[in-house]
Amino acid sequence: MRLVRSVADLRALLKPLWNEGKRIGFVPTMGYLHEGHAALVRQSASRCDVTVVSIFVNPTQFAPNEDFAKYPRDLERDQALCLEAGADVLFLPEVAEMYPTGFQTHVEPGRLAEPLCGAFRPGHFRGVATVVAKLLAMVQPDLAFFGQKDFQQTVVVRRMVRDLNLPVDVVVIPTIREEDGLAMSSRNSYLSDDERERARCLSQGLFAAEEAFRHGERDPEQITTLARQAMAGADRLQYLELVDAQTLEPIQGPLDRTAALCVAAYVGATRLIDNVVLAPTVGEAGLNVSLSPTHGD
Ligand code: PAF
Repeated sequence: MRLVRSVADLRALLKPLWNEGKRIGFVPTMGYLHEGHAALVRQSASRCDVTVVSIFVNPTQFAPNEDFAKYPRDLERDQALCLEAGADVLFLPEVAEMYPTGFQTHVEPGRLAEPLCGAFRPGHFRGVATVVAKLLAMVQPDLAFFGQKDFQQTVVVRRMVRDLNLPVDVVVIPTIREEDGLAMSSRNSYLSDDERERARCLSQGLFAAEEAFRHGERDPEQITTLARQAMAGADRLQYLELVDAQTLEPIQGPLDRTAALCVAAYVGATRLIDNVVLAPTVGEAGLNVSLSPTHGD
């Protein structure tokens, strides 16, 4: 596995591969990697000739009061995980190269960036869209891999890829969970033992809602109430919303299309997010909204 720190070195390394028509997979990350990231890297390695992983803690997607400065970092462990999972190139750009003096061009996502996390983290998705667009321009992958845990991020990135005609397929991989259901996240490392124990209630609430949905519950109010009741162990729910999986608009009537039940909650001082996708069967709703790759549609 090659370590590359500058865009020029990355281009020099990738140019022959682009020219030979190698299939390039890309996994953008902010480091402090876990099994969820490893699953993305493995998927890429199994589907592509070359897998590039980036680690860049992107300052523009953090608000001034957020955890940019204390975001966990462990390059040695990340390198080992990438190598084991099958990465070929680890790209570690510097802030000074990503955002040189005078930087002033951003990707401004539209309405999809407004609800859910967007309502509580103003500017977050502008930062995400901008850095992902830049990284895609640098790596020029055929496939880019994202985790479903960041559901709104996947929707915003897909929209951006379509709107800007970026020649890449966005692949979304199901959330990888701890044994007790907690969605894997670099931020789980902030949790004390007691908080870690209580954090389980978020996935438990989502699973309870999923179970009710599987048994035929279609009332958005009932579904969210069930989840909310199970989430009492969290210190504060920032939002718990059932939204259309494509538009992210709240589901108003009976659930008749693919939806995502999304939660953001504080456990102690740590903000965690999670979601489940609830998809009526094709026969039931006459619809099949896919979460699979959507190149150019
Ligand atoms: O999901 C993340 O880790 C980040 O938001 C991403 C996509 C690497 C952009 O900084």
